[in-house]
Amino acid sequence: MSSKLEVLVIAGDGIGTEVTREAVRVLEIAARSANLTLSLEHEPFGGASIDVHGVPATDALLKRASEVDAVLLGAVGGPKWDSVASDKKPEKGLLALRTAMGVYANLRPAKIFPSLADASPLREDLARQVDYVVVRELIGGLYFGQPRSLTGAPGKQVGINTLTYTEDEIRRIGKRAFELARQRNKKVCSVDKANVLETMVLWRKVMTELGKDYPDVALTHMYVDNCSMQLVLAPGQFDVIVTENLFGDILSDEAGATTGSIGLLPSASLGEKGALYEPIHGSAPDIAGQDKANPLAAILSVAQLFEYTVKRKDVAARIEGAVTSVLESGLRTADIWRGDKGGKTLVGTRAMGDAVVSALG
Ligand code: IPM
Ligand code: MG
Repeated sequence: MSSKLEVLVIAGDGIGTEVTREAVRVLEIAARSANLTLSLEHEPFGGASIDVHGVPATDALLKRASEVDAVLLGAVGGPKWDSVASDKKPEKGLLALRTAMGVYANLRPAKIFPSLADASPLREDLARQVDYVVVRELIGGLYFGQPRSLTGAPGKQVGINTLTYTEDEIRRIGKRAFELARQRNKKVCSVDKANVLETMVLWRKVMTELGKDYPDVALTHMYVDNCSMQLVLAPGQFDVIVTENLFGDILSDEAGATTGSIGLLPSASLGEKGALYEPIHGSAPDIAGQDKANPLAAILSVAQLFEYTVKRKDVAARIEGAVTSVLESGLRTADIWRGDKGGKTLVGTRAMGDAVVSALG
């Protein structure tokens, strides 16, 4: 790692701009503390890019994203672009970005902040157990499989999507999961639907074979429907969950909700080179521009940037520590506000960002 850190900031749409603004402030402070010269570039993305360039992600942006050390993304999409042709939608820009960067491994850690155990919809004793990472395959599976189409006359239309995985694609995401588990509690739960889908029979076979290379890691398999239930019945059983793209999309929203709010969950998307950091939440058009969004998922994404791109776990831990102390002090954005029980204070996006910045010192 050189002493320069190049970050492409694509705040995107809706609350993306507000939460990313706070995350960038934290990024600037953290870079300074790590003696890095930070070079920031800002570009429109998603709907904001459609408005300026007519497409959700320009070729120039996709190219630049693959050159910089890291990309920091806010959120994409909104009702304004609902009527745009489906191949030009903001979400397509995000999928194109993930593909162009080759970021096949999406790490979505779900961890309860102890001071938020009462904000979780789970019973408090269960909420306190939440501490696992969903490793979601990000550039294959049902999102990208061919053939895909929507054809036919009105009233007789047919939609087709395909769930495809090659052994290589399964193996590379599996490796990430096993290696991550080695740094944690040495447990991998591979989530599939091998009782129904051939692709998932292959998934389970490859994961089982791969598991032999990691005898120190305990591998289990679980069907996705059961997993969605276990996440709320007994979340303490999980350490690393590895799964297909769409399954991971769904399970990680559920994971987010159990931590109190999806507004708390960061994510890191990693490939062989380069990395994309983004909160797992969407653009929340209903509260956009009102200083109501929770910036903590975006800020925690910056912590991940320091862990995985800069390889400074200590700096990542300092950012996480600042977030923990701000929550302990009682500050709550609307999504985690459960009333003024015991000195809680309702704050907006900016004030929450200010508090994290000052906790960082
Ligand atoms: C996510 C989002 C995206 C996805 C959408 C916005 C395309 O839900 O990152 O989880 O489905 O991957
Ligand atoms: Mg999602």
